[in-house]
Amino acid sequence: MGLFISFEGLDGSGKTTQIAGLAQRLRAVGHDVLLTREPGGTAIGDQIRSILHDVRNAEMTALAEFLLYSASRAQLVRQVIRPHLERGGTVLCDRFADSSIAYQGYGRQLDLDWVRAVTRFVTAGVVPHCTIYLDLPVEIGLARKQAAFAAQQGERNRLDLQPLEFYRRVRDGYLCMARAEPQRWLVIDATQSAEQVQQSIWERLQPMLLEMGEAARP
Ligand code: TMP
Repeated sequence: MGLFISFEGLDGSGKTTQIAGLAQRLRAVGHDVLLTREPGGTAIGDQIRSILHDVRNAEMTALAEFLLYSASRAQLVRQVIRPHLERGGTVLCDRFADSSIAYQGYGRQLDLDWVRAVTRFVTAGVVPHCTIYLDLPVEIGLARKQAAFAAQQGERNRLDLQPLEFYRRVRDGYLCMARAEPQRWLVIDATQSAEQVQQSIWERLQPMLLEMGEAARP
């Protein structure tokens, strides 16, 4: 069985940059890295992603939203993630099931036990060995996103149109999950520069990789 690492964080936390940096470092030490993302990562998942992100779908209920994220995840786990792990590869995923617990559970306030139960069913025992959470105050994340939009970078999606309180609940949810499972979660201060974040991730990942018997060396 291979190695599964997920990245989590609010929008604007720099996940995309950091995931690419980590992929490069892991490849350099011999990992067969597959990069993927949620929602999406498969042809079906990408179609679901456009429904979820379409700003015209303002009437979508929280339940429909959760089930669409779950459908994309069900496809990704079976078509992409599990086969690569079974071949002994390394999967880096830009968001995974914890995003649904944070955004639909804590953020939308769907019943947390029910969200967790459906998520367990959907992921069929595929749980990240390590979840790298890029933590950032909500205001800083939103300001970074606004700056990216002003520079015509980054896609604007339906989830960008929520009140501040929503993102605060999401962040609190992430921190709560990280506290509950410290052996899986690496909380990284994402207010640092991109280079510092990259270095912190690499340093903090080493003991975890060694413990798991991985031959990773900086
Ligand atoms: P991103 O690709 O820019 O990270 O955008 C994905 C958006 O979808 C982001 O706002 C978080 C949201 N999301 C959820 O609300 N629930 C989920 O389960 C996932 C995977 C993403």
